[in-house]
Formats: sequence, structure tokens, C-alpha cells
Amino acid sequence: ASAPVARATRAERVTPAADNPYEGRGLAGLRAWVAEVAALTTPDSIHWCTGSTAENYELTRQAVADGSLLQLNPEWRPNSYLARSAASDVARVEARTFICSADEAEAGPTNNWREPSALRAELEGVLAGSMRGRTLYVVPFSLGPVGGPLSLIGVQLTDSPYAVLSMGIMTRTGDRVLDQIAAGTPWVRTLHSLGAPLEEGQADVAWPCNDDKYIAHFPDTREVISYGSGYGGNALLAKKCVALRIASVIGRDEGWLAEHMLLIRITSPEGNRYHVAAAFPSACGKTNLAMLRSSRPGWRVETLGDDITWMKPGADGRLWAINPEAGFFGVAPGTGEATNRTAVETLWGNTIFTNVALRDDGDVWWEGLTETPPAHLVDWRGEHWTPDAGRPAAHPNSRFTVSASQCPTLAEGWDEPVALDAIVFGGRRATNVPLVTEASDWANGVFFGATISSEKTAAAEGTVGELRRDPFAMLPFCGYNMADYWAHWLRVGRTLSPAGTPKIFQVNWFRKGEDGSFLWPGFGENMRVLEWMVRRIERSVPAAQSPLGLVPAPGDLNVDGLDVAPDALAELFAVDRESWLAEAQLTEDFFDTFGTRVPAALRAELAALRYRLRQA
Ligand code: PEP
Ligand code: NA
Ligand code: MN
Repeated sequence: ASAPVARATRAERVTPAADNPYEGRGLAGLRAWVAEVAALTTPDSIHWCTGSTAENYELTRQAVADGSLLQLNPEWRPNSYLARSAASDVARVEARTFICSADEAEAGPTNNWREPSALRAELEGVLAGSMRGRTLYVVPFSLGPVGGPLSLIGVQLTDSPYAVLSMGIMTRTGDRVLDQIAAGTPWVRTLHSLGAPLEEGQADVAWPCNDDKYIAHFPDTREVISYGSGYGGNALLAKKCVALRIASVIGRDEGWLAEHMLLIRITSPEGNRYHVAAAFPSACGKTNLAMLRSSRPGWRVETLGDDITWMKPGADGRLWAINPEAGFFGVAPGTGEATNRTAVETLWGNTIFTNVALRDDGDVWWEGLTETPPAHLVDWRGEHWTPDAGRPAAHPNSRFTVSASQCPTLAEGWDEPVALDAIVFGGRRATNVPLVTEASDWANGVFFGATISSEKTAAAEGTVGELRRDPFAMLPFCGYNMADYWAHWLRVGRTLSPAGTPKIFQVNWFRKGEDGSFLWPGFGENMRVLEWMVRRIERSVPAAQSPLGLVPAPGDLNVDGLDVAPDALAELFAVDRESWLAEAQLTEDFFDTFGTRVPAALRAELAALRYRLRQA
């Protein structure tokens, strides 16, 4: 079925071709930009990536030959490789991530702002000669299927073969994208340099990078410049930089949403399909929910995406969604047979691992893959490791990069737009937040999203003062002022038809009892919560009122065969008015950091919440 969503025409774009000297000139514009970047960065050669299998084979062969990739034992892990990063280059660098809008207020209090022309000049300084001794790769990429109704194309210039190979897994790359550019489709410019030029005769290292790093975004010209890091979120620019930070700005200007959300399909025993997008801060089980194995007979969950969802109102008044990516860049530690068997099965081969441990038999290992670690490993730094080493063998942020097509639960037709039935917001909260709450309407749901918070550690349990706010799980990924983003969400909601508007829920799998143990079993049993959501979507069960929103009426959350004591169930939904009023004050303080840009509708939601909490 083709979705009633259309790509914005050039006329709808806020950045007209006139503002962008490269766009609207077809391949000539692209060639002019490549030539300009090459003149600045002075690579030894330029390689235009075609995205072919032969090219992938040759790049991989070279990386193995030069030692930047280690081939795993093909008997256990065919066509799979291990990269070990520099010890200083293991994660996204939020302190060096910049949003360079012309107006500082446009970036908002949650982003690092830099004046665009000043940062551009600074970047030109560090980029000068930065690709010396290396190859400049031209990687045309598409987010969403090439030519798809919600797709966006771009080009990454990079001197990192690891980035080229990873982008080949995470996005659709190659010649098909060039055809789009030739046809005049608008595209996003991204430039990436490791910042590690090689002098004549200088030997390379396995993971070149620079201690000085910049992850710079220019939202007004839809442009990214990244310098000094080879790591995922800093270097695979289509992902966090374009698909979230730049796309959130394009979405604001064009009337759609770019979100840090997983995307799943739920099929009920009656055979009805529902599509759900869900936002969670890091380490709250996003990948596990995306790959959930239902504990409930007849209920099935299939995967469409694990990290990013784009959604756009259709002519039918519904909200249509895609996962713009083509692969998963997931955290390895904690991924095992017991926690996420689907992910383990996805990684059978054709996978690039980064910073995991190496087994003596040439396979990989990480904490949580098996209960008992192997007796000997080579750790992520390349050093000998035994279980008594007193340090993890895999880096806590070690990753796998794998094609979505290998996921055994990948939904049929996963790369076509689906109409959303529900949006879920979650966090990790030991206290206060109920297992599931349904928003009374869209604005109430936007309030849920805007006030997501998570507890960092067990030490913070029960202390409302130690919450970390991560609105919409977009804190590090929103390319403009977060308060304007909330206003944009409210605006998008007004374009949806009443019947077509997704229901919005808040969940918390992590509530603990007085003895400190989890009240809810989580994992596959979360299907029971999804089941209640579906029954609400179908309007087949009523809901009960709580001061926080709608909750399951007694008996409606199916706990048949589940070992949850009745008082634990009551505790999962208990509302402590005093702590909620204290939390409401924290929400007001948080809102105040955005000043007058906070939408009045969210201030009204906060006032209404306080009013309900004060009712006896
Ligand atoms: C990343 O760091 O590149 C990344 C995907 O981040 P996260 O897992 O925090 O979303
Ligand atoms: Na990260
Ligand atoms: Mn993410």
C-alpha cells in the first residue's frame, strides 16, 4: 500500500537553491564541492564510492591488510571484523558538538552554540591539509529508500574507510543516490576528517584520530562538518548528525518530525496490525523493546527500527512513519541470549564490531553475551584479559554495526511508511512513575515527552532532585531550541485528524519496591503492557483515571500466569502526591530554563497536573 505522504517540493524547502551554491546544479554542484574540499584538505586521491559489492570487498581487504580491521574466524562469524578504537575515541563527544545557527537563541539552552562564520573559519584552519596521505571518499547516501516518499539524501566526504564501510551498512549508498542528485533532488552536505594527516613515509596507526574534535552542525544551510573522531555517532554523519539534528530542523520547516525512537509492528491474535514508535533515553531498553519476543500467546512484535523514526502527517490525517536507517549500530554489552536473543541472532555474520573483546578462537565476546566469560580473551585495548582482571573485557560502549536485513524479526515491508497508532515515552525511574499511563490527548502526550526524566544510578533512587531531564530522549539530538521543538510537536498534532491521531503513552519498566527489587519482570512480559495499549487503541477496554493520566482499570492489565503479587501491582501504579508536587516544581524550574519560548499549552498541562494532584 502506498502511503498518502509526499516529499516536500523544492518550493516548500526553506533553504532555496540560491542560498546553496552546490544544490540545484546536479552533479556539477557536487563536483564543485568535492573539488573545494579536496583543495582544502589535500588528500592523495579521491574515490567516488559506487556502493558495489566489489568496492566493499576491496575496501575491506585493504583495511584487513593495513591492520585497521581484524578479520574474525569465518567459521564462527563469516565476513565479520573487529575494529579497536583509540582509547580516547570511544563515544559521542557532546561537549564538542555544536549547533551553529545564525541566532544563538535558535540553538537553545540545551545545545552548545557557536557563531557559524567564526566556527567555519576555525574549522578551515584545522581542516587545511588534514587528509594529506589519505584518500578522500565520496559517499552519496539516502536516508529512507532511494526516492522514497519520506526519504532524504546527502553526501558524506570522509578520509575514514571504517566510516565508508559502516555507512554502507547503516544507509543506502552509491550510484542510485547520484542519479537523484543529477535529477536535482536537494541534498545535505557532510564533511568528515579524522584530523590525522600522514607525512611522507609516516606509518599509519590502526585508528587514526585527533585529540581536538568538532562535531559541527550548520542547520541554516543543512550542513555538517566533523573533525577529529572516527567513532560512530561522531563519524557516521548520516545517523545522529543528519537523521536527527539536521532532519529535526528540516522537519520543523517542512511540517514533520525526526525522532530518537524505535519503530515496531504489533500483531494481535485477531491478526490486526498496529505500529508503535517509542523514545527512551540511553540504557532504558530501547533495542530490547524493538526486538521484543512476546510472552503472550498469539501476540507478535516485529522490528522496523531501533533508533530513529521520521514521521509526517499524511493527507488522510494520520501520522506516517519510517525508519530512515538500513542497519543497527547497537551497544554490545548486555546483549545476550537471555536479554535479546533476536539481536544475538542478527549478528551471525557480516558484522563490524568495535571495541568488543576477542576470543582465542577468533570470535568475539562482551559482558552479558554469556553468563560465564571465557577463561582468556584479548580485551578491547588489545591486552590479555582473564576473568579476574578487575576490568571489563569489552568497552561499555562497544558496538556492533549490522544490516537490518539480518534481523530475524524484521517486519515485512519494513522500509515502507506505516501509519502510527501509538507513541510511547519511557525512562528509568525507581520511584514515582507508573508502569503505564495514557495521555488524555496530544498536548498531554507532548507534556509526557517534554518531561521525560531518568535516574542515572541506584544512588539516586527516590531522590527527585537527582533526575536527569531528557525530553523526548532528544537532549543531545535536537538541532534547534527544544522549546520550539515542543511547539512544533503541538503544531503537528493539530494537522492530524481526531481519529487518526496516535495515542500517547508513558511507560516505566524499572519501578522498584521497598526492598530494592524490580516490581515488574520486564523484557518479553512488557508485551502485556503493549497488549493493554492495543486494547485502548481498539477502544475495547475503558481506562481508570489517575492524577497523572489514564491507567488500566482493575483487571485490565493481563497478569495471568505472571508471578506478580497483588500489592506489587498496586505499587506499580501508586501515585505519591507529595513527591509528584515536588517533581512538578522541578518541571517548572526546567521549563524556566527555556524562558518565554515554552508553549503556553505545556505550562497549562503543568498547572492542570498540579491541580489534579492537590485534589483530595
Ligand atoms: C552513537 O553514539 O553513535 C549512538 C548511536 O548513540 P546512542 O546509542 O547513544 O543513541
Ligand atoms: Na554513544
Ligand atoms: Mn540512539
